[in-house]
Amino acid sequence: MSTPTYAILNPGRVIAGAGSIEQLAEVARGFNARHVLVVSDKGVAAAGLVQGPCAALEGAGLRVTLIDSTPPEPDVADVEAILAAARAAGGAPDLVVGIGGGSAMDVAKIVAVLLAHDLDLRALLAKTAEIPARGLPSVMVPTTAGTGSEATPNSIILVAEDELKVGIVSARLMPDTVLLDPLLTLTLPPAVTASTGMDALTHAIECYCSKKGNPFSDLYALEAIRLIARSIRRAVANGRDVAAREDMLMGAYWGGVCIATSSTTAVHALAYPLGGKYRMPHGLSNAILLPSVMAFNLVGSERRFAAMARAMGLDTGGLSDAQAGTAFVEELKRLNADLGVPPHLRGWGIDETHLDGLVEGASKVTRLLDNNPRPMSRADMRALYAALL
Ligand SMILES: [Fe+2]
Repeated sequence: MSTPTYAILNPGRVIAGAGSIEQLAEVARGFNARHVLVVSDKGVAAAGLVQGPCAALEGAGLRVTLIDSTPPEPDVADVEAILAAARAAGGAPDLVVGIGGGSAMDVAKIVAVLLAHDLDLRALLAKTAEIPARGLPSVMVPTTAGTGSEATPNSIILVAEDELKVGIVSARLMPDTVLLDPLLTLTLPPAVTASTGMDALTHAIECYCSKKGNPFSDLYALEAIRLIARSIRRAVANGRDVAAREDMLMGAYWGGVCIATSSTTAVHALAYPLGGKYRMPHGLSNAILLPSVMAFNLVGSERRFAAMARAMGLDTGGLSDAQAGTAFVEELKRLNADLGVPPHLRGWGIDETHLDGLVEGASKVTRLLDNNPRPMSRADMRALYAALL
């Protein structure tokens, strides 16, 4: 038997703090860039978050091609269209900047590779091809505090015909530089702050309990839980609270670091078919699933749950680990209620007749299910989904 080993993967450089976006042009010059491809989405552009960075790049004498057509939950055709638009811009880009949420950054990361290497995206998704080398240099600028994509070697793409999101995972997708500027997140609406923030919290919680958990993920997961738990209600209640936004952005980043060294588990596996088939927002599906999956996972992981309860700021004095773990699960339910996350999947056209399809979809996500601390059978999955109808 081989000795279990673990590794941590980080972006090359991370620049954080209010106003850090102002360093983008200097960062681009550091890569000797002349033609920058900026990948974003319409919502981020409409919020006025793209024009300033593009103007700063142009002001530094760089050519900028902006593609802001990334849709939510991008599929293969979307990525290919964005790649074609980037090539049609003429004069090959030599730096890719992703500005947005998980979708824009995931697309930017894979486009940086596809612009540099002649690769078939479908083969990458089918795992019949691998990314042979790093792509163009990439800079990620998150405008939500959730996905953690800026810290991960993952690009998640929807395979529309299978109604399933598939992750391409390669260290060669890791961003070169990340700018974490909380000022870019101040205008996020409360519902998006809540669902993306709960996604980030889910990353930290799942990685802390994952079978692939290790000293690196333990360190960052507990800090992510602490930052998000203390600030998520404030960030939702008052979006302009810069300190709360900074906590959320840093918590989401640490959550991404956790994904890069450990892995998420059953919450994300069960959320995948909800996003793939019913197009539920990723953070919302995770938030709805989180308390029930954690109630399931508590059995056998009581000590870890007690540690998460303490990181969340709960008073666990006098409680056994099991009691503290139960208090942790109850706090997750309270948090969802406070943030306006519904306690069920109704409203998304999901009923009893869809249970088999959901279980089938989730069962395919073995990459994540295999990391769940407590084995989850198809019957367990069915019961979990059914209880949320
Ligand atoms: Fe996630």
